[in-house]
Amino acid sequence: METKKLNENKKIKVLFATSEALPFCATGGLADVCGSLPKYIDANYSDVDIRVILPMYSTIPNEYRSKFEKIGEWYTTLSWRKEYAGIFKYVLNNVTFYFVDNERYFKRNNQQYGFDDDCERFAFFSKTVCEILPMIDFYPDIIHANDWQTGLIPVYIKTNYSRDPKYSRIKCIFNIHNIQYQGRFSADYIKDIIGISGEHAKILEYDKDLNIMKGAIECSDKVITVSPTYAKELRTDNGYLSPIINQYSYKIMGILNGLDYSFYNPATDPYIYKTYTFDTIEVRKENKMQLQKEFGLKVDPDIPMIGIVSRMPKHKGMDLIRACMEEVVNHNVQFVGVGEGEKEYEDYFKYLNYKYPDRVHVSLGFSQEIGRKIYSALDIFLMPSLTEPCGLSQMIASRFGAVPIVRETGGLKDTITDFGCAGGGNGYTFASFSANDFKYSIFRALKDFENKAEWKKKIKIVMDKDFSWDKTSHNYMIIYKELAKEQQ
Ligand code: GLC
Repeated sequence: METKKLNENKKIKVLFATSEALPFCATGGLADVCGSLPKYIDANYSDVDIRVILPMYSTIPNEYRSKFEKIGEWYTTLSWRKEYAGIFKYVLNNVTFYFVDNERYFKRNNQQYGFDDDCERFAFFSKTVCEILPMIDFYPDIIHANDWQTGLIPVYIKTNYSRDPKYSRIKCIFNIHNIQYQGRFSADYIKDIIGISGEHAKILEYDKDLNIMKGAIECSDKVITVSPTYAKELRTDNGYLSPIINQYSYKIMGILNGLDYSFYNPATDPYIYKTYTFDTIEVRKENKMQLQKEFGLKVDPDIPMIGIVSRMPKHKGMDLIRACMEEVVNHNVQFVGVGEGEKEYEDYFKYLNYKYPDRVHVSLGFSQEIGRKIYSALDIFLMPSLTEPCGLSQMIASRFGAVPIVRETGGLKDTITDFGCAGGGNGYTFASFSANDFKYSIFRALKDFENKAEWKKKIKIVMDKDFSWDKTSHNYMIIYKELAKEQQ
């Protein structure tokens, strides 16, 4: 009993703050990572007590919500406002999740972000996280914040709380999942909404605006982005925050994301027509024919099927898809996809669907189910991103046996190497953001696809590559331990 208590006391306490995590709420890869990394750490590193805190959106499925336990109420001070915060708790897979409830901020229809008061909503969330530590009786050694929505936590900790010894010892990590989203608002909000003024206000100023990500970088003890290559790219990409990134490069590093191998697994996936492993790889043909039927395409397992599962903003490389796809499908190739995004790209896919009904089917809208069915049927997966901090889809596609074609940027460069590389690769890659280079890779892959025996060997290589957290999570442990040690 006594020994157990001692060990418990020695655990490094981490409070992991995020605006989304699976299975509760998701708009993109952030939710995958924030749903799986804490779970993995909890299960594999007994010296860490990691807990997660999230906003309590009304869209969280009732199967979870109905089991949340209310542990207290609080009034959060936000500049001149006092806002109600209900604090709830739920344990899933042995990980404790806390939820911050406030209907005015988090009861919105079907959407997590994109509201006029986003700054206030997430300033409220971040401030509440700081204020309720005594209530949840968890003073962490480390607060691990993710993206701009939680970026004010390190700023509050290092400013408002710097004279409180229980807080001043807390170390902060800030994870950048995508620098495209910085939390930029009018500088007036710094005092009026965030409630930081005087000498500290300049921490949050950048380019005459409020820039939450800039403040988070400045105030955190470590800044981690989601792949080593992206960490390097951030230093040179003008127009983003490169001057700030360069100023603080001594504390910035890249750690590649892992994939939740229990969640993404073709052997057990609940959504796909038929489950399989490499040993039963022929099953993929059946999945392909089922999908062809469902999408109204010509049913023929030998027609190569290429596709995308992607949000559709510009930075996902949609311009390259648009520049090539018509020519590609005219070579007896089927093109399928699922996703949603900017109207101009959605319109393009509507046009393709209409013009080539037997060869093209892109389903517009976000659907886990269709996504998985596509991964389980595709021969070739396309990810020609303009920028890609890490990217998870290329890893999911690989796990499902769809051979990836990616542009060499960010995490795509760190996960996929070309089959033609010395030492062999696990996909097809091209470097410059050029439609010709992309097209060349597609035709190279289509040519290889014709040799069935060789193609099967490629599928094996692709499926065998380990993208799980087994490979990279220890890097987070190194940081946690380093920061916890600095406190002593
Ligand atoms: C963002 C990035 C993506 C990354 C994910 C998780 O969605 O765009 O590249 O994989 O975050 O870190």
